[in-house]
This record gives sequence, structure tokens and C-alpha cells, in this order.
Amino acid sequence: MTEEIISATNLISLLIEAQGDALRAIKAGGKSPEEFRVQLLGAKSEITRLTKQIGLIPKEDRHKIGPVVTEVKHSIESALSQIEESAISTPSTFVDVTAPGIRPPEGHLHIVTQAIMEVTRIFERIGFTRVRHPEVDWDWYPFESLNMPKNHPARDEWETFFINYPGKPGTNPKKQKIVLTPHTSNGQVREMEKGKLPIRMINIAKCYRRQIDVSHTPMFHQFEGLYIDKDVSIGHLKGVFDYFVKQFFGANRETRLRPFHFQFTEPSFEVDINCGICLGTGLLPDKTPCKLCKAGWLELGGSGMVHPVVLRNGGIDPDTYSGFAFGWGIERTYMMKSGTKLDDIRLLYSNDIRFLEQF
Ligand code: DAH
Repeated sequence: MTEEIISATNLISLLIEAQGDALRAIKAGGKSPEEFRVQLLGAKSEITRLTKQIGLIPKEDRHKIGPVVTEVKHSIESALSQIEESAISTPSTFVDVTAPGIRPPEGHLHIVTQAIMEVTRIFERIGFTRVRHPEVDWDWYPFESLNMPKNHPARDEWETFFINYPGKPGTNPKKQKIVLTPHTSNGQVREMEKGKLPIRMINIAKCYRRQIDVSHTPMFHQFEGLYIDKDVSIGHLKGVFDYFVKQFFGANRETRLRPFHFQFTEPSFEVDINCGICLGTGLLPDKTPCKLCKAGWLELGGSGMVHPVVLRNGGIDPDTYSGFAFGWGIERTYMMKSGTKLDDIRLLYSNDIRFLEQF
């Protein structure tokens, strides 16, 4: 019994030692305040163990222990609540619910899509309807129906991707060979086959050719206009071009018609517009030749009065009806638009966000 008696002084110094250990542990950190609370003040803590020894000291000294225990617990508790309070007011965990949110990144339509929409809108205003025709088609539509029989040398210009489709013997001779359409003119006879007159179509589609350089990509877009009615003349063709050019490029850009040859139009023209990079001079400010154009003019595409053979292939009587057609590249047309200084058409399809974000 006597060995169990310990002096009040002894217990007090043990309590104060435990307090020092506890405060040092809190300062060193590594645990949450709640974990420290359990470790330092909980049922299994050193301080609780010492507090229980109060019964081992002489009765008359016991009253000295109470205030010490209170003070020890209080100091530990206040060290822990200080940590809790500072965590609450630390800016990194402060959430200002009134602050504006983070905007998600916003994309936009590709410039070629924007150009297609603009071209469509301009032609719709004068009664042309946007139509769709196949981008993978029978050889008949982009070539034979357009007065370019098999093995005709005019076909060479179109640098066509042919699909190795042998065809079935005895089937329709117009459906023997398949190509990736090298131009949107395949839509001409297809539109005539619908059997509705007059025709005012704008066919916008992807085209494919085996060529790549600063002004060509193997896949590109064309828009093909076709107008067929009674008494259609070159005057109508010129009027439509003048209208389009004023709407799309602005009043200060110039076009010219050059006589040309296409198998499917007679007479035929090429439509040029003055270059938006060198503004028609053919030279850059440092006197080097413009990379994009040929001597100040850029070819937009072909046009002409629809050939009687083509009308007949579409089931239309060329003695009663006449029409004009044109086929221009969307990319090229867009590049010539005022303010767009693109000197390499391939940038459009390089998928570089730094380039695309500018439009
Ligand atoms: N399809 C021709 C080309 O890709 C352009 C063209 C020329 C279209 C004359 C036409 C046309 O409609 O009448 O080069």
C-alpha cells in the first residue's frame, strides 16, 4: 500500500512534463487537431493516465492537483483550437461564393464552315437553293455526263482519285467506275435528273484531287452554281457574279472573266479576282514575288453557258432551255476576302488551334 503512495509534487511535475511533450507534438504537426485531441487528451492518453493517479496521493494534498490538471488540459485544448481557427481563415480554403465562375473554353465554327454558310446565305437571297450531291460518285456524273468521254484528255486536269471498283458485267454502263468527286460539277446532271425546272441550285461539297502545295490541299470544298431556265444568257451570269462579289468581298475587289475551255460549257470563262495579299501587284512589300498568286490575280474557278450535250444528258431540251454554271473553291474564295492574309492554304487543315482561334 505504501509503495503506491506518490507525492503531489511528483504527480504535478509528471503532469507538467506531459503538458510540455503534448505542446511540442502539436507544434511539430503531422496530424489533424482531432487526431491530436484523441492522442493527447483521450482515454488512453498520458495525461488521463496521470489524472487517474490522483487517488494515490495523500488525501490532504489532492486539492493541489485539480487546478494543475485543468491548466494542462486547457493549454493543450487552446493550442488545438488555434490551429482549427487559422485553418478556417487561411485564404487557400476560403471560398467566395459570390465570385464569377471559370468560363469553360468556347470554340467556334471552322472558317471553312463559316464561309460555306456565308456563300449559302448570299445565293439564297437571289433564289438559289443549297443542295447536296454525292462526294463519292459514279465516274459518269463528274466526267462522262459532262461531255468528257472515257480516255478524253480533258480529264487529266482533275487529278482524280479512282476507287478500285471493278463493276458488275451487265449492269448499267453508267455505274461501272467510282471516283472521289474532283469537282462539284457532278451535281449538274444529278440536279437535272430531278426533273424540275427552272433550276437554281448551289451545290457545296468536298472535292478531292491528287495535289498539295501552298495553294492546294488534297481535300477542299467547291460551290457549284447552276441556273437553267428559258432565255438564260451570259448577261445573267455576269449579273450573278457581280452581285456575289459585291456581297462577299466588298465593293473594292475586282474580278475579270478570261476566255477558257471546258468540255461542259460553251462559251467558257475563268473568273479571276485581284489578290488580297499583294493587292494585284504580284509583289510583296519586300519586292519578292507573292507566294500565293500569279502576277496579282488569283483564279477563283470556272464558269460558262451549259453545253447542249450536258443539258441533253440531264434530259433537258437545249432548244428550249439554256443555262449557266460556275464552280469555285470555297477555301480560295475565302482567302481572297479582304483582311485575310493567308499565304498557305494548308494552314486551314493543319488543326493548329493557335491559327484557328484567330478567326
Ligand atoms: N468544275 C470545274 C473545275 O473544277 C469548274 C467549273 C467550270 C465549273 C465551268 C462549272 C463551269 O460549273 O461551268 O475546275
